[in-house]
Amino acid sequence: MSGPRPNVHVVDHPLMRHHLTHLRSCETTPIQFRAHVRRLASLLAYEATQDLEEKPHEIQTPLTTMTGSVVSSTIGLIPILRAGLGMVEPVLDLLPDAQVWHLGLYRNEETAQPVHYYSKLPPGQPVDVALILDPMLATGGSAIAALDTLTRWGVPRIKLVSIIAAQAGIEAVSEVYPQTDIHVCAVDPELNASKFIVPGLGDAGDRTFNTVG
Ligand code: PRP
Repeated sequence: MSGPRPNVHVVDHPLMRHHLTHLRSCETTPIQFRAHVRRLASLLAYEATQDLEEKPHEIQTPLTTMTGSVVSSTIGLIPILRAGLGMVEPVLDLLPDAQVWHLGLYRNEETAQPVHYYSKLPPGQPVDVALILDPMLATGGSAIAALDTLTRWGVPRIKLVSIIAAQAGIEAVSEVYPQTDIHVCAVDPELNASKFIVPGLGDAGDRTFNTVG
């Protein structure tokens, strides 16, 4: 059995556990689910951006001049449709100058393989740092497909920001992309026969958009 992977960051914080517990519960309604996703995405993004590059920035305060610091990298937020949409706004609040590039991927229910259905990445001019936003990392197929797309675009630094992951998904992504940082609130032990994360939280897209049944 291999030891913990250095690229995997599980946030250890009481507020994470609090909101994640409510997120998982089937008593949580869609409006509550979306609110918990926003809170968790914000905490995760704070953690995932701690090593962003900075540059000095001269300003005038009401009292004097000083040299402050601003983020120097160009950042791209890459929400994976649909469930990743719920994470965009809170992360954009922290990174208001970020570009947002949507990727459409859904998992074929029979094969659990990712299917691409939307991408409008421009040729050239990749961002310096991309944050892939998707609440769930199950088999890792969708995350690897997104990483393939962003790597082809030429993004030098890519981070995966997910609320929960299955251990199998973490292993799958790390095998192909060992340098990619993975930031999660929790790693669940199992995937069931339908490749759903157990204990998990169900289907984040359906719970966000109230499309069950
Ligand atoms: C879910 C989830 C991920 C993917 C994870 O999306 O939001 O994108 O499955 O599974 P994987 O790691 O096995 O690829 P889903 O296919 O349910 O699409 P949706 O967000 O439109 O509901």
